[in-house]
Amino acid sequence: MDKLYYVTTPIYYVNDLPHIGTAYTTVAADALARYHRLKGEGVYFLTGTDEHGQHVARAAERNGVSPKEWADRMVTHFTEVWRRLNISNDFFIRTTDPRHMEVARNFIQLLYDKGDIYLDTYEGWYCVPDESFWLPSQLVEGKCPQCGREVEMVQEENYFFRLSAYADRLLEHISSHPEFVQPDIRRNEVISFIRQGLADQSISRKTISWGIPLPFDESQVMYVWFDALLNYVSAIDYSLDEARFRGIWPADVHFIGKEILRFHAIVWPAMLMAADLPLPRQVFAHGWLTVEGEKMSKSKGNVISPHDLVDEYGVDAYRYYFLREFSFGYDGNFSRENMTGRYNADLANSLGNMVSRVLAMVERYRGGEVPGPGVEEAVDTALRESADLAVAEVDRCMERFAFNEALQAIWNFLASINRYVDETAAWDLAKDPDRSDRLDTVLYNQVEAVRLTALLVLPFMPATGEGIWERLGYRRSIHEHHLPAAAAWELFPPGQKVSKGAPLFPRKDAAR
Ligand code: MSP
Repeated sequence: MDKLYYVTTPIYYVNDLPHIGTAYTTVAADALARYHRLKGEGVYFLTGTDEHGQHVARAAERNGVSPKEWADRMVTHFTEVWRRLNISNDFFIRTTDPRHMEVARNFIQLLYDKGDIYLDTYEGWYCVPDESFWLPSQLVEGKCPQCGREVEMVQEENYFFRLSAYADRLLEHISSHPEFVQPDIRRNEVISFIRQGLADQSISRKTISWGIPLPFDESQVMYVWFDALLNYVSAIDYSLDEARFRGIWPADVHFIGKEILRFHAIVWPAMLMAADLPLPRQVFAHGWLTVEGEKMSKSKGNVISPHDLVDEYGVDAYRYYFLREFSFGYDGNFSRENMTGRYNADLANSLGNMVSRVLAMVERYRGGEVPGPGVEEAVDTALRESADLAVAEVDRCMERFAFNEALQAIWNFLASINRYVDETAAWDLAKDPDRSDRLDTVLYNQVEAVRLTALLVLPFMPATGEGIWERLGYRRSIHEHHLPAAAAWELFPPGQKVSKGAPLFPRKDAAR
């Protein structure tokens, strides 16, 4: 069997409720996973939660419950929001899963046995919310360079991973595999960071008990980042089921946010090298979202829950907006006005109205039964060609995770369909009994274009793809059809009955 296409999101800290920033990575990963499934590939899509660490222990204490109880309570917010956003992950990993803990212990023991782990004294700063160690020289005005919050002095005997020993191999790998860290701006950042010299990494904590005990020294627990990174291999049974593991690893892509790049592009590959495991094919870091021009933060009270937007716009409009509006890889700004504008222009108009118009015409002129096509004219050829172009273009864009460009290509196709509907003017043809054959062809082509639309939007807007498919009268699920074969022109079976159904995206009042 072929190796599965393996895509991951970061595992989310359970302390914060999911918001539109955290959901961004997951929605993008979902669209990618669904696209590969649409192409008939086997896919493994992983997400989950990062539940150990000092900040979780402290939050639990503040709330008067054990860390595990706290994690159990918080994790439901994640599973619930992913269910609402129609996220199709194949597994949900929690770092408190006994299997994850067993794999993490096996892994660290292996590195210890190989001599890549040693005991030393750590003295430096620690940012608890970010769970990151910092050298005095890295602090900015005495605060965490990452998040600007207070840091704490840590002085304890820790186990260290010989990260420095892998610097040359890492540089070699990154130089010879330009696709390994993307986008390029992130790749350059990683290269210059390694060139400055890598310090060995503390990978255990002595004064903390909420974590995975080290197998070779039960008085210490694993540093939460070392533990967390291992989720990518524990979920697929590294060291437990070799055959399963080899059928999925290496990851095709780890989607992450830009602030956790060093862990994924430096520490993680070095850990894998130390364990003699193949490296992921790619680490892709996306940008950060701001809200109405500002960084989201609890103190500003501007954190947006995906639930609120789904209540307001619906799940597919949510997914569409975030994938269409932002260029994955770069920062972007969310605004309600902008989302409403896109909803009305792109979804209510270009997509929703077009589907309704096309199906309404089949109902009106042919009682809902789609006629067979006749002789192809130039305008029909142009429509067919724009469909082919969209299918090819979407594929090229998805190769490089350019979700916004893939959607742009689909919307170019929708513009062609709308043009075709206007130019062929079925309503005029319907008045002339001599042009009945031509009307058949026009109606058929329009429906065929709607069929392709359903397939193309499916990874981005699954419920919409399914909803259109149903309106097209198919009994069998859209998920049984795969690209590129299903994109061939004239596959729609003449005689099948379609129905216009309810509007897909009712217009929204702009004044909100
Ligand atoms: N637990 C670690 C990841 C461990 S992976 C082995 C972690 N968790 S997190 O919950 O803080 O963040 C998870 C992801 O959410 C990161 O990729 C981060 O970039 C993303 N986002 C959090 N806020 C964001 C925005 N405002 N905008 C876009 N993504 C952001 O880090």
